[in-house]
Amino acid sequence: MSADYQVHGDVAVITLNNPPINGLGLATRIGITDGLAKANGDAAVKAIVLTGAGKAFSGGADIKEFGTPKALQEPNLLSVIVAIENSAKPVVAAMHSVAMGGGLELALGCHYRIAAPGCSVALPEVKLGLIPGAGGTQRLPRVLGVEAALNMIVSGEPVKSEMLAMLPGQKLFDKMAVSAESLAAEALALAQDVAAKHADGSPLPLVRNLPCKHPMGDAYFQFTRNMVGGMSRNYPAPLKCIEAVEAATQKKFSDGMLFERELFINLMWTPECRALRHLFQAERAASKIPDVGADIASRAIKSIAVIGAGTMGGGISMNFLNAGIPVKMLEMKQEALDRGVATIRKNYEAQVKKGKLKQDKYEERMALLSTTLSYADLKDADMVIEAVFEEMGVKEAVFKQLDAVMKPGAILASNTSTLDVNQIANFTKRPQDVVGTHFFSPANVMKLLEVVRGEKTAKDVLATVMALGKKIKKTSVVSGVCDGFIGNRMIEQYSRQAGFLLDEGCTPAQVDKAMEKFGMAMGPFRMGDLAGNDIGWAIRKRRAQERPNMLYSRSADKLCELGRFGQKTNAGWYDYVAGKRDAIPSKLVEDMIAEHRKSLGITPRKVADEEIVQRLVYSLVNEAAHILEEGIASKASDIDMVYLTGYGFPMYRGGPMLYADQVGLFNVVQSMHRFAQNPHDDANFWKPAPLLQKLVTEGKNFN
Ligand code: NAI
Repeated sequence: MSADYQVHGDVAVITLNNPPINGLGLATRIGITDGLAKANGDAAVKAIVLTGAGKAFSGGADIKEFGTPKALQEPNLLSVIVAIENSAKPVVAAMHSVAMGGGLELALGCHYRIAAPGCSVALPEVKLGLIPGAGGTQRLPRVLGVEAALNMIVSGEPVKSEMLAMLPGQKLFDKMAVSAESLAAEALALAQDVAAKHADGSPLPLVRNLPCKHPMGDAYFQFTRNMVGGMSRNYPAPLKCIEAVEAATQKKFSDGMLFERELFINLMWTPECRALRHLFQAERAASKIPDVGADIASRAIKSIAVIGAGTMGGGISMNFLNAGIPVKMLEMKQEALDRGVATIRKNYEAQVKKGKLKQDKYEERMALLSTTLSYADLKDADMVIEAVFEEMGVKEAVFKQLDAVMKPGAILASNTSTLDVNQIANFTKRPQDVVGTHFFSPANVMKLLEVVRGEKTAKDVLATVMALGKKIKKTSVVSGVCDGFIGNRMIEQYSRQAGFLLDEGCTPAQVDKAMEKFGMAMGPFRMGDLAGNDIGWAIRKRRAQERPNMLYSRSADKLCELGRFGQKTNAGWYDYVAGKRDAIPSKLVEDMIAEHRKSLGITPRKVADEEIVQRLVYSLVNEAAHILEEGIASKASDIDMVYLTGYGFPMYRGGPMLYADQVGLFNVVQSMHRFAQNPHDDANFWKPAPLLQKLVTEGKNFN
């Protein structure tokens, strides 16, 4: 049973007890209804307090039950709330810490509510592509007023109890407790008061009986529809929140409840909702490594050293400074250190100017930063992250020096984006302490961290880096060692397809537009211009030696031969005006592509947007299937996380793997067979990966 039952004097206390956030799983729901029955059957009990143990009143639905029959099994949440409303003895919700989603809906079913200050109150369902489904849209407007309630429901954002208590006329809380510590005693006292008040048999107050009106209903809802519709383009849920709250103002309570349920169930089946729920679960799943259990103790990381104060070194350092961890940066020359520190300062100052960072915080962070030219100064650091030039010889020199000076047990990490982490580890006598930490640029902004697990990386090193990733607010995904790891290995295929499309008749702008319409934050050519086309060029040159048979369009090389590296040279696939980021289609580039096409003897054809999207996205999917099969990624959802957090894949599509699942893997493979017929494409690549073929044969999917 995930709820405790105790009697204090003449008050029964039902305490939800399902750590960490008292999720309303089946056992907890049964615990509540059993407790209610017991209390109602005990003549000595006059009133009931409902509260939560530990760190929450209740955080809502139990995510372990998501998508399982248990979630719907009786008593479901709606039935539990009805049981509370029907209790003959008054039920007082004692809310503290967190009262969200189903947890808040539960409290709204109680006859009275008392809250501790600092309690986070929210209906966050919209973030999962849903609306509240257990009366939240019908009851919250009745206690907070339509506007305040709708703001909370559409945004899903938490609001502190003391703020809500200040709303004029609010009926959410009958009382605010003085403190979290005094809540239990104050809730008991309130329960005794209301028991006395209703001793005469007077009816218990129910939120459902409160009126729900907006003085300018039609105009107000039309206004919010326009606003929210504009902001939530690809998501249906926010507009449905408005519909549901509007229904609360127009329909009888019971009809409003039915309407809410109908909207809720319809949303459940939308691809957007499925994608957002997938994202929610994938994020949690990513932090779990199959063979590294929770029992593996991590190492203490109290200080960090960073080698190289360039683009990545500076951004990486900021992550740790932001988390209050001291950083020492090492460079070969004082000028490079000065430049690195100046860039960090400039970034923080921009945040201060925008009001995103307080001056004193900025100074605190800078005080944690120190610099050195000498390896000997790094000997006390718990972890070092190398971000020097991407050349094996340079990495070798650095890791040999680190091996010589770092204390035993220190973690030695490399930010390499393409080099072999096993080889780097073997430059040291402690390969078990070596790991890849592949940050994405700008490293202080991008959420993704690929944690690269070498052949010999120790489990506790992995556990430590994953925990550290959480501390610096990254989404960490483990990748095995291969060229490009998960993300960049897949992007190679995506870029190759983009190149072939140019050869066949597309312009960069057409390809970008199709992908952006699909939802990518940026099409492949705008992305290349932002990242620097020279980086891809260098990688292609290296790969040409390692894999001479790999086919590429030559247009990207020709672009680089013209010195058009992207935004940094004010010219790439597009033209740029200095200081601005607007991509202006370039006649010169289009002519260059046309000439190249002619030299290949290709007659240009009009390629439909649908084909562009399919070729680019399915190229990711097919490579990902190889990655999964080789064990480079341990689960499909990890690959989705990489693309959602590091490559601007649209959230509402849930990542390339979930997208492929939704299209149907059979259909994906059919398209791949079609692409293999194209004489200007790489037929070899379009052979479905064995895993993909197997899933199709077995009628299964990735997730
Ligand atoms: P960068 O050229 O901006 O910075 C490298 C810095 O390392 C320079 O300041 C240089 O003076 C310093 N350095 C070179 N050799 C050194 C040595 N032996 N000892 C101490 N300092 C030394 O390069 P960036 O872009 O910061 O890249 C660094 C690493 O991060 C590379 O391995 C790169 O592949 C990787 N990376 C880069 C990304 C990007 O978007 N720029 C993204 C992810 C990884």
